[in-house]
Amino acid sequence: MSAVQPRFQHTGIAFGCDYNPEQWSPEVWDEDIRLMSEAGVDLVAINIFGWSHLEPRAGEFEFGALADIIERLHRAGIRINLGTGTASAPAWLVRRHPEILPMAEDGTRRYQGGRQAWCPSSPEFRSAALRLVREVAERFGDHPALALWHVSNELGCHNALCFCPNSDAAFRYWLRRRYGNIGALNAAWGTAFWSQTYQEWSEIDTPRLTVSTRNPGQMLDFRRFSSDELLAHYRSEAEVIRSYSDAPITTNFMLTSHIDGLDYWSWADDMDVIANDHYLDHRLSDPTVELAFAADLTRGISGNEPWLLMEHSVGAVNWQPINLAKAAGQMTRNSLTHVARGADAVCFFQWRASVQGSEKYHSAMLPHAGTNAASWREVCELGEIVGSLSEVAGTRVESEVALVFSWEAWWATEEESRPSHALGYLDQVHAAYGALYALGLTVDVVAPDADFTRYKLVVAPGLHLVREQHARSLTDWVFAGGTALITFYSGTVDEDDRVWAGGYGGPFREALGVHVEEFAPVAAGTVLRLSTGATARLWSERSTATTARVEATFIDGPARDAPAITSNAWGAGQAWYLSTLLDHSDYTDLLATVSGAAGVHSAVPFRGGEGQLELVRRRGEAHSYVFIINHADAAATVEVSGLEMITGVNVQNQWQVPAGAVRVVREALA
Ligand code: GAL
Repeated sequence: MSAVQPRFQHTGIAFGCDYNPEQWSPEVWDEDIRLMSEAGVDLVAINIFGWSHLEPRAGEFEFGALADIIERLHRAGIRINLGTGTASAPAWLVRRHPEILPMAEDGTRRYQGGRQAWCPSSPEFRSAALRLVREVAERFGDHPALALWHVSNELGCHNALCFCPNSDAAFRYWLRRRYGNIGALNAAWGTAFWSQTYQEWSEIDTPRLTVSTRNPGQMLDFRRFSSDELLAHYRSEAEVIRSYSDAPITTNFMLTSHIDGLDYWSWADDMDVIANDHYLDHRLSDPTVELAFAADLTRGISGNEPWLLMEHSVGAVNWQPINLAKAAGQMTRNSLTHVARGADAVCFFQWRASVQGSEKYHSAMLPHAGTNAASWREVCELGEIVGSLSEVAGTRVESEVALVFSWEAWWATEEESRPSHALGYLDQVHAAYGALYALGLTVDVVAPDADFTRYKLVVAPGLHLVREQHARSLTDWVFAGGTALITFYSGTVDEDDRVWAGGYGGPFREALGVHVEEFAPVAAGTVLRLSTGATARLWSERSTATTARVEATFIDGPARDAPAITSNAWGAGQAWYLSTLLDHSDYTDLLATVSGAAGVHSAVPFRGGEGQLELVRRRGEAHSYVFIINHADAAATVEVSGLEMITGVNVQNQWQVPAGAVRVVREALA
């Protein structure tokens, strides 16, 4: 098989879905395929949860139905995104090997009957899964309809952390490789505290529940280990596939609001193409902004290469407390946000709404109501729009701003013992991103070790845990002329979760020109007033400016008179520090000032739709494409000229994008 990494190749932007034909009879399959063609579907994910159908009893394989459906789809010109089928273990396997079942932190098992009930470190699960993958890959690895391999499904969605004896053993092995000797582990975990010093590796377990708070160093390493274990599982399936097939291999990531199990920066290199599942989360204050953030993060993981939106929803999901339907046009806007931000595929979970099972109230392309439904008509219109944007595929998003994102910082921020349980990492990230979004700026979300040279502005919100070399590369970039905004709680601990003493902010301290003596979080509901008239919440700090210029001070609260916003000339650049959580409009004003000083611009000039207008440019070889997504209730005016590809009209200079509309303008490159 080939040594070069295969690329996902498709004509235009793929339009597709998860399809679960196991739930339907062959007569329904024919209707499904006819309607898929009507909607413009050209990529279908199948066999995601196929195991109990393919291997109903140990070692007995039945591939007839899967082969049949693949042929039918192929005849209709629909390409296959083929699941390995290992996402959920069949009941017979669990009966034979009950130790496969994952164990929760309180030592209780989770049982068969849902999905993903397997321990990522279970050798029995691994070998049974790989036997199935070999059978699937051997049969279908060179099928002409095969576009892509889909390993398992959303690895770690439910089983990211397992605390069973197999996980204990694997964790010890991982720790020995990381530390080499037990003394190094004791030093890293700070086990001198509370008499936790270990003498033997065998004394260490996964961090099951304790009567007090657990060791934060152990917890952090357990998160790293758990991410690595699932990556190892991915690699083992991919390795088996690779010996039978040249098709690209991926798995669907979950860069979607609350899911924090896997450090996807470390997964990216193993994927032939990055794929993501995203669902609007109505528990958040602004789900649409989070969608844009998730899409930008997915592009970041993909190194600014085009990526695939593997799942999103036509309307409501079934797993939030109140599952809101999408308004007319919202599904189209959501889909195009992903495309604007680098997706070369728009796929849905799922094709036909199930009539049984846990997800029967989840929306689908073909709803329970059938084709006589507004949502079906919007799906078909979206299929046409995606078709009309064919030439956008393969182009790259342009951005002048980077936002630093870190799973390690997330895990460390939210450890059991912290200055304020009201402080969430993602909230800080979303607040900073939301302010940039409100300004209509395009943001690349990057890893802490990113190369910042192509940016004008770098924002690092709440980067609590930071490795010294990564902090240095950011401050060196500022020194060379860059502009950065770093926000409170950043640079507090090193990679072992050890506090940088001598004033918080550790490795950022000198560049920021601020000496932070003490954190002063405030109670829920407390509003802090700043000397500029701005208001803030959540957090303040008792600090003094050493070399920084004070832009705003707290005029009340526990850090009264201390600086709240500072800027420091650092070499040829400028390092800004924000020591509180500004309210949204004040945060937006601050970022308007900082980005203005850094010379950052939105993709095109605009008026109206403030805060609810997305403007993103994807650049190709002969043309660039400006996406304008207007979430507002009123029209917005934009300044861009070229062919508007959705309406087929030539537009010039200043023109209006109607309320709720999406427009894509093709510009000629000089
Ligand atoms: C994803 C999953 C799908 C389906 C969907 C529902 O987590 O991959 O199988 O469950 O969510 O929103």
